[in-house]
Amino acid sequence: MRIVVLVSGTGSNLQAVIDAVQAGDLDVEIAAVGADRPGTYGVERSAAAGIDTFVVDFKAYPDRAEWNAALTEAVAAYLPDVVVSSGFMRIVSPEFIDAFDGKYLNTHPALLPSFPGAHGVRDAMAYGVKVTGCTVHWADAGVDTGPIIAQEAVAIEDDDTEDTLHERIKVVERRLLVSTLASLAAAYAPQ
Ligand code: GRF
Repeated sequence: MRIVVLVSGTGSNLQAVIDAVQAGDLDVEIAAVGADRPGTYGVERSAAAGIDTFVVDFKAYPDRAEWNAALTEAVAAYLPDVVVSSGFMRIVSPEFIDAFDGKYLNTHPALLPSFPGAHGVRDAMAYGVKVTGCTVHWADAGVDTGPIIAQEAVAIEDDDTEDTLHERIKVVERRLLVSTLASLAAAYAPQ
């Protein structure tokens, strides 16, 4: 199974995927890693791992439609079976998702449909829930919406800060992302 991974930040979840592939534990080919802005650590660490990288800089396009078209073209060039949004902080168009037959996987640091959006960890803490977690799902063109594949709960401790909680969630999120990719890859394996 060929994947293209999209990142906006440090890409620590992506690193878990790279590690699993390199260890021979995940039968996936990371065809490329792309970002929506220059200078992300996610792209830097991918290049260091010998993976093709590209940037489709959101700010370099006159509008969202043109950026979406450029992103679609850049990703499509790698012929992925699945596109993975791993901390990719942009909403893509329905046309982008259609171009990959809906095979657009997202991870989110909350138990969807609760606390979607860019601040899922902060919003869960602000609400005062005692349990949050993470979700891996097929993304549609909404904000963290689409069919859920896997979820796992993480308890919120009294002395948690947004950072300590997010770090604990990410430990679970990495495992869930890798195991979800492994299940999908099994379905793509030659019979
Ligand atoms: C993850 O928790 C992801 O779900 C969220 O941002 C974080 C990305 O972290 N949207 P990283 O870039 O993989 O370190």
